[in-house]
Amino acid sequence: MPSVICAEARETERFGERIGRTLQGGEVFALEGDLGSGKTTFVKGLARGLGFSGTVTSPTFNLVHRYEGGRARLLHFDLYRLQTAGELETLDLDGALESGAVVAIEWPERARAALLAGRTRWVRFEDAGSARRRVTVE
Ligand SMILES: Nc1ncnc2c1ncn2[C@@H]1O[C@H](COP(=O)(O)OP(=O)(O)OP(=O)(O)O)[C@@H](O)[C@H]1O
Ligand SMILES: [Mg+2]
Repeated sequence: MPSVICAEARETERFGERIGRTLQGGEVFALEGDLGSGKTTFVKGLARGLGFSGTVTSPTFNLVHRYEGGRARLLHFDLYRLQTAGELETLDLDGALESGAVVAIEWPERARAALLAGRTRWVRFEDAGSARRRVTVE
């Protein structure tokens, strides 16, 4: 499992950006890690790498944000506040997974069943002391 240490937020963002540059659309990232572990920071980098130049913010309350204008659309889910299975259907995660967009999902354990389709890349974010994060891509 390739693992990198990111010493500060910008490094985590740059790591996401490097991956983002390789994406074509249709890739799915399940981002696992505690609150504040760097998942959204990584997604900012993914957006950058896809060529999206606008502001990327946490979809804490809307549960999903859409970013257009890069090489592929980016759908960024945050399921932390997901309450019911019905809500998940309203978000249309399944549709997102088939849409050809790049999909990034924070708190994916809340939607594991829908993600078992395969092709999901699991990325784990861990505290590695001071401001460092260990980021592991499956
Ligand atoms: N090495 C690092 N990598 C990423 N973020 C870092 C790092 N060091 C410090 N930080 C800070 O930690 C916070 C990470 O926030 P971020 O929103 O990316 O976390 P998150 O995993 O998405 O949390 P949540 O589950 O609450 O959505 C930011 O305030 C960032 O500046
Ligand atoms: Mg987040």
